[in-house]
Amino acid sequence: MPQLRARCRSPWRWSTGRIISVVETLVLPKSNDPCWCGSGKKFKRCHKDAGQGALRLPSVLPGHISPARAVPDSIVRPDYVGNGGRPGKLNVALVKAPSTIAAMRLACKAAAKVAAAAAAAAVPGVTTDHLDAVAHQTYIDLGGYPSTLGYGGYRKSICTSVNEVICHGIPDDRPLQDGDIVNIDVTIFLNGVHGDHSVMACVGAVDEPSRRLVEVTHEAMDLGIAAIGPGLPINVVGQAIETHARRFGYGVVRAFVGHGIGEGFHMQPNVPHYFDRNARFVMQPGMTFTVEPMLTMSGKYDYDVWDDDWTAVTHDLSRTAQWEHTILVTHSGHEVLTILD
Ligand code: MF3
Ligand code: CO
Ligand code: CO
Repeated sequence: MPQLRARCRSPWRWSTGRIISVVETLVLPKSNDPCWCGSGKKFKRCHKDAGQGALRLPSVLPGHISPARAVPDSIVRPDYVGNGGRPGKLNVALVKAPSTIAAMRLACKAAAKVAAAAAAAAVPGVTTDHLDAVAHQTYIDLGGYPSTLGYGGYRKSICTSVNEVICHGIPDDRPLQDGDIVNIDVTIFLNGVHGDHSVMACVGAVDEPSRRLVEVTHEAMDLGIAAIGPGLPINVVGQAIETHARRFGYGVVRAFVGHGIGEGFHMQPNVPHYFDRNARFVMQPGMTFTVEPMLTMSGKYDYDVWDDDWTAVTHDLSRTAQWEHTILVTHSGHEVLTILD
């Protein structure tokens, strides 16, 4: 999902050794002392309130990323692959031709199949890189290209966002642990269009608050989708999502938004998941875009980005969940495209 604003960089540029030494020697600083995380900020301006007063350490750290996986030459690539990851100027109508919509239906169904295959593989002990391998092979079996592979410098076939990772987590050698929650975000390029879909997997025995976060985030997405219809401003989507999230004290991430999709991966309009009075783009039949809310358990939405320039984590290390569908606006309302038969 596109990022709207850049924020401070993540403090987690640590080696495992440094983590251990910090844990061993850690004494909470005084308010005006430098924060323990190494950001250079005063403790009171950085992690003092993280974890609602409790000391919380990251459950996920940067891991080893395997080389990019190969795609057979016979599979058609999007324009940005081989163009340094930069999409070219797309001059296409936001209201899609019937033939484009037909292609989107197929691409989105394929995305749902890839996500189901990867989610089924998410069990304790399996690395997120293994999920990437499973997804990668499934894209190829379906004749599609993993849209993220080579997009803006991203080198994996899915995103895997575990626990406090909000989105754009890069599959690596971290084994999934009993109790983790992981978002698996799949985008396929098939028949000249992209289909974008993400699901949550609960790994082993997940605690009740996390299960609830996962479930309520799904409900929030469904309520956002239910608000979609022709002639309405796009902000009805975020309004429905934020209203539901607030009932549970959850936060709605603001920096990453849903997006138009079709011949391009990320197109107009932006789809905020919170109520944005200025998001007045009017939905019309034939438009396709994603709804992909990210909710936080703590209710906050501050975030940091790791030095890999992708992985977005909650600043307070609170767990987050996300689900995503690609939607078509129809004359009578909407149609969810990223579904299995
Ligand atoms: N699939 C993500 C979305 O929902 C985008 C991932 S872009 C990547 O928009 F480069 F980070 F993979
Ligand atoms: Co998306
Ligand atoms: Co996605």
